Amino acid sequence: MAQDIYLLFLILFIALNLQSVLSWRMQNSTNDINSDDQCPPQPHPLGMCNSRVAAYGYPCEEYNVTTDDGYILSLKRIPHGLSNATGNSTENTRQPVLLFHGLMVDGFCWVLSTPKQSLGFILADGGFDVWIANCRGTRSSRRHTTLTPEDPAFWDWTWDQLADYDLPAVLQFIYNQTGGQKIHYIGHSLGTLIMLAALSDNKVTDVVRSAALLCPIAYLNRMKSKLILLAARIFLAETIHMLGYHEFNPVGLVAQELLGQVCVNPEVDCYDLFSAVAGPDCCLNTSTTCIFLQHGPQSTSIKNMIHMSQLVRKSSIRKYDYGNEKENMKHYNQTRPPAYDLSSIPRHVPLFFTHGGQDFLGDVPDTRHLLRTIIREHDSDDIEVMYMPDYAHGDFVMGYNAPQLIYKPMVEFFKRH
Ligand SMILES: *[C@@H]1O[C@H](CO)[C@@H](O)[C@H](O)[C@H]1NC(C)=O
Ligand SMILES: *[C@@H]1O[C@H](CO)[C@@H](O)[C@H](O)[C@H]1NC(C)=O
Ligand SMILES: *[C@@H]1O[C@H](CO)[C@@H](O)[C@H](O)[C@H]1NC(C)=O
Ligand SMILES: *[C@@H]1O[C@H](CO)[C@@H](O)[C@H](O)[C@H]1NC(C)=O
Ligand SMILES: *[C@@H]1O[C@H](CO)[C@@H](O)[C@H](O)[C@H]1NC(C)=O
Ligand SMILES: *[C@@H]1O[C@H](CO)[C@@H](O)[C@H](O)[C@H]1NC(C)=O
Ligand SMILES: *[C@@H]1O[C@H](CO)[C@@H](O)[C@H](O)[C@H]1NC(C)=O
Repeated sequence: MAQDIYLLFLILFIALNLQSVLSWRMQNSTNDINSDDQCPPQPHPLGMCNSRVAAYGYPCEEYNVTTDDGYILSLKRIPHGLSNATGNSTENTRQPVLLFHGLMVDGFCWVLSTPKQSLGFILADGGFDVWIANCRGTRSSRRHTTLTPEDPAFWDWTWDQLADYDLPAVLQFIYNQTGGQKIHYIGHSLGTLIMLAALSDNKVTDVVRSAALLCPIAYLNRMKSKLILLAARIFLAETIHMLGYHEFNPVGLVAQELLGQVCVNPEVDCYDLFSAVAGPDCCLNTSTTCIFLQHGPQSTSIKNMIHMSQLVRKSSIRKYDYGNEKENMKHYNQTRPPAYDLSSIPRHVPLFFTHGGQDFLGDVPDTRHLLRTIIREHDSDDIEVMYMPDYAHGDFVMGYNAPQLIYKPMVEFFKRH
């Protein structure tokens, strides 16, 4: 019995700690990963604006956005690129675009590499006013008007609240700051789910000009990652929550220790575990991956992980299930949590989808199901789907050929809408 519990923890931490696993592997391997790129020795001590964006000479502004439920989010802005500086971001005719990161990373993921490689810079140089969100719980957004991250209540949220509060607050803020311009949106992974949820609840349709969804995540029922399936089926996140944990901090000491024990075993290839969860990325450069690993992974709430595993176990997309009728009644006035009706997404919002054949999380059957639900309602001019057979989850944000294959057609889509 004790061994079973140990095993449960092990699987959870492995399944959800792949970045740390990979990082462990990199630090400890000499020949299996290109050794021409050296990982810098330390994580970036400074914020995104100081350490990355300014390093390439780009302007970078920081804002604090307070949500209706009191979280103070850090929002970054690259008002223009190098080639076309006006020097005055208040007098701005560029179209704003908001980048929203995925689960367990933060806004850093959009500026990981060089200006020619990373979407944040490419958009700024392409004539856009670039805004980069950091959701609650990530390194620069661990603030609240009354709570601290040590309070369990600080972690009492799931992606329902990201869709209800974080996303609308950030969009409304940008809308105000840019004098009422509608915003193009780009989300990756979890950043797509919250947009789909907010659009289906009609929360943000007035301020969104179009949305590009990279690795759309909504239905997770047929996802291919065996480790995550197992973790969901045995109610691992729920177990951890019952033990009194609220923050899911993937680089916590316990996790590191467990991983160390597993990966020391020569029969376990920790590098393969990364692929086992997210799918085998085709096109990552070591240098980019290094920066990614050293900056993350970022915290999220255990409750959010529970909500994600509810998606894996069920075929419909619903708000967080409190697990019994009485509690659901208390929160929702009905015994089952309300469902998100994705077919009610307004058809006048132009949507650009791109998904990968090797992605275990945004897997092909689930994504097809999502697309069928949405496309039926849309005009064909306003929807575009790009299928990348070789791409897995990380390639869409970090792939060295993503600028050519993904970002270029995406920008063209924005320019048409
Ligand atoms: C790398 O391997 C060494 C032993 O070879 C070990 O002491 C160290 O903890 C490992 N690094 C990490 C990050 O686990
Ligand atoms: C945002 O909040 C931080 C911490 O409270 C503060 O240091 C910073 O000056 C604020 N930034 C702006 C633009 O208000
Ligand atoms: C500068 O911006 C204008 C309008 O946004 C655009 O037409 C022009 O091509 C840009 N020039 C360069 C060098 O990027
Ligand atoms: C920027 O533009 C605004 C509005 O036109 C103006 O009030 C402000 O003085 C300008 N700032 C700079 C630094 O030119
Ligand atoms: C945006 O402006 C409106 C009207 O001035 C104001 O009511 C609202 O609070 C502002 N929202 C944000 C997020 O700044
Ligand atoms: C990334 O890798 C590709 C293929 O190996 C190479 O052509 C490219 O120059 C690399 N880019 C960077 C920024 O290292
Ligand atoms: C539940 O329904 C009752 C009666 O219709 C209403 O008064 C109450 O505000 C509702 N509560 C919630 C949480 O929606």
